[in-house]
Amino acid sequence: MANFAFEEEKAPSKFNLGVWRKMLRYTFRNWPLLIVLALSMLLTTFYDSSFMPLMNAAAIAAIPEIPLGQSVAGMIINVELIFGIRFTLDFVGFALVFGAGILIRSLSIFVTFFVTNYFDMLINTSLRRDAFRRAQELSFSYYDRTPSGWLIARMQNDTSAISDTLSWGLIRIVWITFELLFTLITMFSRDVRLSLIILSIAPLLMIVAPIFQRLLLKAQRKARSAYSNFVRWLVECINGVKTIKTLNIEEKMYEEADDVTMNIYVKRRKAFKIHAFFMPVINILSAATTALVILLATANFGLLDAMTPAGVATLVLFIGFVSQIYNPIQEFSEVANEFIETQAKVEKVMSLIETKPEIVDTPKVVAKYGTLFDNKKENFEPLNGDLVFEHVSFSYVKDTEVIHDLNLHIKQGTSLAIVGETGSGKSTTANLLCRFYEPTTGRILVDGIDYKERSVGWLRSNIGYVQQTPFVFRASFYDNVRYGRPEASLEEVIAACKVVGVHDFIMAQKDGYQTELDDGGSQLSGGQKQLISFARAIIRNPRLLILDEATSSIDTESEGVIQSAMNKILQGRTSIIIAHRLSTIVNCDRILVMSEGKIIEDGSHCELMSRKGHYHHLYMNQFRELNLESQIATYEEQIEKMDVKL
Ligand SMILES: Nc1ncnc2c1ncn2[C@@H]1O[C@H](COP(=O)(O)OP(=O)(O)OP(=O)(O)O)[C@@H](O)[C@H]1O
Ligand SMILES: [Mg+2]
Repeated sequence: MANFAFEEEKAPSKFNLGVWRKMLRYTFRNWPLLIVLALSMLLTTFYDSSFMPLMNAAAIAAIPEIPLGQSVAGMIINVELIFGIRFTLDFVGFALVFGAGILIRSLSIFVTFFVTNYFDMLINTSLRRDAFRRAQELSFSYYDRTPSGWLIARMQNDTSAISDTLSWGLIRIVWITFELLFTLITMFSRDVRLSLIILSIAPLLMIVAPIFQRLLLKAQRKARSAYSNFVRWLVECINGVKTIKTLNIEEKMYEEADDVTMNIYVKRRKAFKIHAFFMPVINILSAATTALVILLATANFGLLDAMTPAGVATLVLFIGFVSQIYNPIQEFSEVANEFIETQAKVEKVMSLIETKPEIVDTPKVVAKYGTLFDNKKENFEPLNGDLVFEHVSFSYVKDTEVIHDLNLHIKQGTSLAIVGETGSGKSTTANLLCRFYEPTTGRILVDGIDYKERSVGWLRSNIGYVQQTPFVFRASFYDNVRYGRPEASLEEVIAACKVVGVHDFIMAQKDGYQTELDDGGSQLSGGQKQLISFARAIIRNPRLLILDEATSSIDTESEGVIQSAMNKILQGRTSIIIAHRLSTIVNCDRILVMSEGKIIEDGSHCELMSRKGHYHHLYMNQFRELNLESQIATYEEQIEKMDVKL
């Protein structure tokens, strides 16, 4: 697994609005939901911060006023809400209004939670969809530079973290704001002087809370980094378990385990300590404010008459306001931390979504042939297979050219073999032809037209490409072959498998063609995967067939089966066969020998052999090796016979 996936992000310490602005389109795309959310939160916070405390205060003030000898049923309650709203209720009326309030609040809480979850899922799905779509559009060069673990981490964890923050984080901010707003309005409309007493300690909290949160953020980051380190170490240990056992270093690994887990323990303990310390500090501040309110209110300063029921009710009300003010302020710095933490994730996900694919069709081409996701197949011209490389040069990395001024004409329906030493540019030539990469300079013409004038979809739909290490999906044999052409019937799949000689093997499996393959086809040998990939290519009935070391893991006997089948299949198609085993390409119409990104020999097998150059040398070397192998086999046979005699 790529280490990159666990790399700690470069931790930002400030809120960067520019980064979040990019997220607005994901947030406001669902604006009707935001309005529903705002309304439901408005109702809930009004209930919690204003209505409920004031109703309680009214009840508290009314209870001592019940005439002697009467039950609560006879009480008269004067309710005074904000904005000068007043009304008088009897006991039943009060109970009804109270009940209705609870009902409305429950409903708005339900709406808030339901809609926020829904909102979270919508953002998450849109982000993942956009990221995945872009990942599909990006060309090979992007994947050359980007570890797969990085991409998975972006699409899996980061999108979840972003949608969580955008939904729950944003909702918490709005909630806190409404809560504070209603509390302040309620407080000041009730008693300005008591309100000022409560607010007098608030600046202290506004300083202390962010300091603590910042400390906590740092400690939590260290703890997370220790955990990432542990995961990275664990992945390596599990992947390398066989090597560990063969080297007999279990004890050393166990000691390492001790170190990495202890590191997590130490770092997390520090974070917990800060968190644990923070809570009592807040409590002390809030208790001190409560004490101050009680002290000043009950002292003889004329703030209120604590002996009257109305005075007691106001006192109780203001004691409640202390936490109503302090909790949101404290929570605010917590949410701010959450946003800062998610900021780096937003940057990374947006860097993926905003990456421009290097290989794109021009608007004119898209208008005619459609996009990769919406091919207008009806406009696809048939591909004949006449291929021309015109002064093609190519560099994967700037200033390091690997193909130099390649000129080549492959006639329609012919087979071309490319041989040459490792790293000479054979696969690169095939990749350029498939437009996985585009020439740095020069052009490639397909049927006489620069392939950039037609769509990527058009070209690829005409190509069958068998790689050296083909990928097998977690699906049945049937589906795996069908990936080449999803509409293929079982009969067609069977026919293709028979051609490449893998039918008997598949039939011997538990469920035949419906047998499910594991991740990456781990129960198959390298050669069997190549055969499946062959069948996948054949079923597409491609005009261009490219085999890049496609038979390198297949035994010589099976290769013979494929060769004879291929000779039939290749009829009329243009094919490019890259091979190290020269016995497989002697029948090709033409053979190119490449070296260091250039063609150094070009001709048929007979021509090249008679030229006694590079190809002749390569061929004779392999021939000698083969001969040697047969000699060894003969010796082994002789030795075996001797053993029997002994
Ligand atoms: N993705 C890549 N990024 C950078 N350089 C690359 C990349 N792929 C190949 N190269 C370089 O390009 C050159 C040609 O590589 P290529 O894969 O075409 O060789 P090849 O002839 O197919 O070799 P082999 O026989 O080993 O498959 C090599 O020097 C290689 O190091
Ligand atoms: Mg290669």
